[in-house]
Amino acid sequence: MSDELQNHTISGVDEGLASDESILKTHTRIRREPFFVASPVLFTTAFALIIVFIFGWFYQRRYMGEQNPQMYLHERTDIALYNDWLERPRGPIVYDYYAIGEKLYTTMACVGCHQANGEGLPGQFPPLAGSEYVKIEDSTLTTKVLLSGLVGPVTVKGSEYNGNMAAYGGLKDQEIAGLVTFIRKNWGNESSEVTKDDVAGVRGEIGSRDPWTAEELNSYFQ
Ligand code: HEC
Repeated sequence: MSDELQNHTISGVDEGLASDESILKTHTRIRREPFFVASPVLFTTAFALIIVFIFGWFYQRRYMGEQNPQMYLHERTDIALYNDWLERPRGPIVYDYYAIGEKLYTTMACVGCHQANGEGLPGQFPPLAGSEYVKIEDSTLTTKVLLSGLVGPVTVKGSEYNGNMAAYGGLKDQEIAGLVTFIRKNWGNESSEVTKDDVAGVRGEIGSRDPWTAEELNSYFQ
């Protein structure tokens, strides 16, 4: 045996002793060791995963419509309705300002102070019914009060008030427009409707500011 071969000899094993038969036996034994795929647990798991993956792939192809909303429509009638709806002409949104305002008058608690009949409470909360701040032709006054509030002494229908009306500028343009329209057209008031564009105009003009004083708004009555 050459020196080179001897260096590869595993210490303690005398290769000279291995017969053909013993080598074959050893190899057979090694082949019988469970290879990991042959383990039933691993095999079943892997198999299940492959099934899930294939199923998932088909399912996704079938039901994920790549942004096509029609994928949710399984019935022919649904699809017909949907197409019909798509083709319907669409105009600008029409707001029912009075209805919006009527609802907000309660939910925004205006009603708690100015009352359901718009008469307010003597000495505390001024009336909206017949109020010069509401009936006035130039609706920007009412809009300004709602957007930024009103504080300090004010005379409404000949009576003095000295309170604090919170700002409602956090509401959307169409909501302010609704409130202004509602109080301008209710309880015998018969003033014009106010739209969200009107409100946007006033909002853009005054920006966000402190509550008005009656004095600052005096020019409306001159
Ligand atoms: C907490 C009570 C309170 C609530 C809620 C309230 N207000 Fe007022 N409001 C007042 C007071 C007080 C004044 C007078 C402020 C002053 O004395 O400077 C006033 C003034 C006004 C004015 C101008 C004066 C007038 O009588 O015309 C209008 C318009 C008005 N409120 C509308 C509303 C609307 C619409 C709401 C609901 C979004 C509302 N208010 C919610 C208390 C309230």
